[in-house]
Amino acid sequence: MSSGLELVDVGVAYGSARVVGSVSLQVAPGRIVGLVGESGSGKTTLARAIVGSVALVSGSIRLDGAELRSGRRSRDERRAIQLVGQDPFASLNPALTIGSVLDELLRVHHLGGDRTQRRARSAELLGLVGLEAEALDRYPRQFSGGQRQRIAIARALSVEPAVLVADEPTSSLDVSVQKTVLELLSGLSAQMNLATLFISHDLSVINAVCDDVAVLQGGRLVEVAPAGRFFTHPEHPYSRALLEAVPRIVKEAR
Ligand SMILES: Nc1ncnc2c1ncn2[C@@H]1O[C@H](COP(=O)(O)OP(=O)(O)OP(=O)(O)O)[C@@H](O)[C@H]1O
Ligand SMILES: [Mg+2]
Repeated sequence: MSSGLELVDVGVAYGSARVVGSVSLQVAPGRIVGLVGESGSGKTTLARAIVGSVALVSGSIRLDGAELRSGRRSRDERRAIQLVGQDPFASLNPALTIGSVLDELLRVHHLGGDRTQRRARSAELLGLVGLEAEALDRYPRQFSGGQRQRIAIARALSVEPAVLVADEPTSSLDVSVQKTVLELLSGLSAQMNLATLFISHDLSVINAVCDDVAVLQGGRLVEVAPAGRFFTHPEHPYSRALLEAVPRIVKEAR
């Protein structure tokens, strides 16, 4: 029985500054949990802790019940948790074609068979995110921001992760492009049974894609609730304050 991603009393500090308190949260396979909170509340820091790029000062992170230690993760553990970040321009190596990036990942993780099979799988992955196979032979600079974010999603999914952490994946995109990328992410999460942590400070975005909502304030979770309940009956005063800042969503949800 797989239990997905579990954070138990997770604490993170930069030097002596404790930025994440004691966060406990579960993301089950096939679910999308939205993490909201104002700028500086620790959302990205928590994402970094989950992917293992910053160490915990307390607590633990578990995948299907097995503890993952930061800095000492095996290749398979690193493969299992993938991050899609905010900036589609920073996330792709400008010197490599999309095809060579995907090919290398499939090769290293023994996922795609021989060279010809890997090429076919890479084309298939691009198809999943709505891009043509000819994109394989192009470089990142030849794509728009929205297309690059699709490529970043294809890259994350190429290694067949169990967990996807999306940190403000659409905040740098045009509103018109945002919607298609969000639909893509939620569709693929369901299709691949991913446990997805979706970070955003935009409640309308959270409302559009998440099953559950977790609210971070000053590095602590103040509320975790199913999205339906969160948008109609937020419990914590901070949640209410966040929602009151965007009255339109509250009305629509009601
Ligand atoms: N590398 C770092 N070294 C020291 N302090 C940091 C570092 N990264 C972030 N911080 C601090 O940790 C706190 C949380 O930052 P974090 O980036 O996790 O917030 P966030 O919720 O993602 O904000 P935003 O919505 O602006 O992306 C902030 O006070 C920030 O200044
Ligand atoms: Mg952030």
